[in-house]
Amino acid sequence: NRAPTIFSGIQPTGVPHLGNYLGALRQWVKLQQDADPQTKLFFSIVDLHALTVPQDPDQLRRWRTEAFATLLAVGLDPKRSTIFYQSAVPAHTELMWILSTVASMGYLSRMTQWKSKLQLPEDTTLDHSAARAQLRLGLFSYPVLQAADILVHRATHVPVGEDQKQHLEFSRYTANSFNHIYGPIFPIPEAVISPAKRVMSLKEPTVKMSKSHTDERSRILLTDDPATIYKKVKVALTDSEATITYDPVQRPGVSNLIEILSHFEERPCETIVREYGSASLRTLKEEVAKQIAHHLREIREGYAALVANPASLDTIAQRGAQAAQGQTGETMQRVRAAVGL
Ligand code: ADP
Ligand code: NA
Repeated sequence: NRAPTIFSGIQPTGVPHLGNYLGALRQWVKLQQDADPQTKLFFSIVDLHALTVPQDPDQLRRWRTEAFATLLAVGLDPKRSTIFYQSAVPAHTELMWILSTVASMGYLSRMTQWKSKLQLPEDTTLDHSAARAQLRLGLFSYPVLQAADILVHRATHVPVGEDQKQHLEFSRYTANSFNHIYGPIFPIPEAVISPAKRVMSLKEPTVKMSKSHTDERSRILLTDDPATIYKKVKVALTDSEATITYDPVQRPGVSNLIEILSHFEERPCETIVREYGSASLRTLKEEVAKQIAHHLREIREGYAALVANPASLDTIAQRGAQAAQGQTGETMQRVRAAVGL
């Protein structure tokens, strides 16, 4: 029995926000802390995935570095975890090709990713052939690359958000298809679902906080300074009720703030409501801003130090790529032997 192997990735789409942190990155750091010594951990900036939508090359270059620095700043330790750019490890794309020869087209066409990235409404009145002409192969086959990302490290555990479960199911299915034809090469990876609830947008608290929203006040970036954090929380959309109660359906704005506090203070929302119930919304907002600023301080300062020294970031990235290549080389030897290459 092999030691557990953890793999997860994040796209380089700018400095991650509070939702990314509480929903994903913080869990990665916890897994790193709790892992026993034999457990291997791989965390990747999946830059090839970013190319499935149009990118400005200079901006992508910047975003890759920002994402890499953020992984280190939140507490991933390159001495313990292998942290690397996906594009620096060619085995990811090599395995993608081989997996694409067993991956089910039917399964892929049922997945929603490519539809949502095209931003077609489900019930579209658009001419279908025009829409299909805009559809790129890479966007359609993206889940096969995601399967390769996981399987090339022979990962046993994949931390994912609730919204990513569909993709892991495809990876499991594809691993099984391969194993069925060629023998038991890949472990079937298991999801480790993040316990954190989704963080909602500060401006539209019925949808999740996301980097794709145009209003920058809708999200807190991990690099925001305290003044910016206070400003954004102060203008967060709430309601006009005088008391503080937790009711995500009727009062999504206030409830989101309570939940953010609950994440950081690691105590239940009910306890927070009991404490702040008769306080003003302003007091609650001040406390939320204070806690966010407090908890992001180390990350923000660490990030600033890291990006000030790009040469050292490059060195860490090169070492990560080498370590990842060691692991993937072993997998690819087995895969090549199994398929007859
Ligand atoms: P975005 O929605 O901003 O484009 P991604 O889809 O790149 O973010 O998500 C990266 C990771 O962060 C995923 O694991 C996802 O589940 C998590 N995540 C993203 N937004 C949130 C949120 N608002 N609350 C909790 N987790 C989130
Ligand atoms: Na994503």
